Formats: sequence, C-alpha cells, structure tokens
Amino acid sequence: MENNDKIKAPCHVAIIMDGNGRWATSRGKKRSAGHKQGAKTLEQIAIYANKINIKYLSVYAFSTDNFKRSAEEVGFLMDLLIYYFNNKLVKLSKEGIRVIISGRKDHLRNDVLESIDNIQKITKDNDRLVLNICLNYGAQEEIVDASLKIANDLESKKITRDSINKDSFYKYLYQDLPPIDILIRTGKEHRLSNFMLYQASYAEIYFSDSYFPDFNEKELDSIIEDFSKVERRYGDVKRIEK
Ligand code: IPE
Ligand code: IPE
Ligand code: MG
Repeated sequence: MENNDKIKAPCHVAIIMDGNGRWATSRGKKRSAGHKQGAKTLEQIAIYANKINIKYLSVYAFSTDNFKRSAEEVGFLMDLLIYYFNNKLVKLSKEGIRVIISGRKDHLRNDVLESIDNIQKITKDNDRLVLNICLNYGAQEEIVDASLKIANDLESKKITRDSINKDSFYKYLYQDLPPIDILIRTGKEHRLSNFMLYQASYAEIYFSDSYFPDFNEKELDSIIEDFSKVERRYGDVKRIEK
C-alpha cells in the first residue's frame, strides 16, 4: 500500500472476524487457542490500518448470539477481551488509536464493563484510527434500540417527526460512524450474522477463505486495491467519461 500512492485508503473498513475455532481445531488445538491467535491478528491489523490512514475499523468480537456457546468458551472470550482492553489496547493508545465499544451492556460481567469504560476513557482524546469493537452486539438489536431512543425523544418532544431521516438515524445507533466502505468476512462463510446491517447498506463485501488468525496485511492490501477499482453507483447508472 505504501508504495502505491494512487490507492486511497477507504474511510471505514469492517471485519467479521470468523474462523478462530476452525483454525485451532484444524491444528489439533482447543478452540481457545484460535481466539488467542485471532486477538493477535486483530492487534496487527489495527496497527496496520492506522498506518495506512484508515479512519474507522469496526470488528465483530462477540455477538449477542455467541452467548449460546458453552460457559467455558464464553468465559475464556470475556477474560481475553479484558486482557486486551487492559493491556494490549492501552499500548495501542500510544499510536493514537481510539477504542470505542458497540453493543448491549446486559449479560456482561462487571469486570468486562469496567474494562470497557477504562479503555474508552483512556483513548477518548486520540485522533488517529477509531477502532470500534462490537461486543455483545447484534445489528437488529442496535436498530431496535435506536428506534426506542427515537420514540423516547419524540415522546419528550426533544425532536419532531420530520427530523428523522436515514442520515439522522445514524446518531441513534450505538456509535455515530460513517457508512461502511469495505466489509470483510473471513472464515469461508458467506453470511452477515447480524453485523452492522444499517451501516453496511452500500458496503462492498469481500469474503476471505482465510480463517481470521491467518488474515494479514497483504490480504487487506489486495482487498483495498480491488475496492479502489470499483465504481460505486448508489443506484445511479454508470457514468460515461466525457
Ligand atoms: C469467531 O470465530 C470468533 C467469535 C465468534 C467469538 P469462531 O469462534 O466463530 O470460529 P469458527 O467459526 O467456529 O471457526
Ligand atoms: C459471527 O460469527 C460473530 C463473530 C465473528 C464475533 P459466528 O461464528 O458467531 O456466526 P455464525 O454462527 O457462523 O453465523
Ligand atoms: Mg464462526
């Protein structure tokens, strides 16, 4: 990327970090080993995204539906997240990365909630990459929660009906982010699994066969290069050069 000045970094990249479990079991390891390796990959990708001037990186770390997994796996993931919030991400703060968390607060342990508050506070004034970590997140839940906030604001006459439109709706989502330019799902599956449905309405979608722990900067570069050649028409027709 650095050597190719013609390619402009996309503003908002989102990743469904899937395949940690299969990465581990295919190596005869426990699923938890895959989550550990996936966390390292995330750290690497976040540093790289910051370096190439991506403004927003949203990642799916834990869905509301992931609570269906065994208590052992959920517990391991929560401990890993706390470790990352309290240690690794504090280090990333030195690079100017701001960490924000999207998702519901219910069902999360107190120590998880504390570490979320902590990392958001520590990094709040950073002005480089915004790393949006989706934790206990579901897109349908987010849209429902936004609708309820709007209903409250209408009821209390804070806003009027005509102020609600598809742009102002963003402000009611968990975080006020720009629309997603590139949405990547690793791990061979071709579905969205309830991830950022509102923000992804015109995203270019890339499915990677790599399990997330194997995803790397080179693969991201090649996706960005591909994206730079796409003509995004937003419903319009192809523009003919004059
Ligand atoms: C994604 O990897 C991480 C989380 C959902 C927390 P998976 O754990 O879903 O890995 P696979 O899909 O089972 O391989
Ligand atoms: C989506 O992956 C959630 C995360 C990557 C955190 P899942 O593995 O939970 O999704 P499904 O079950 O394949 O749809
Ligand atoms: Mg999976």
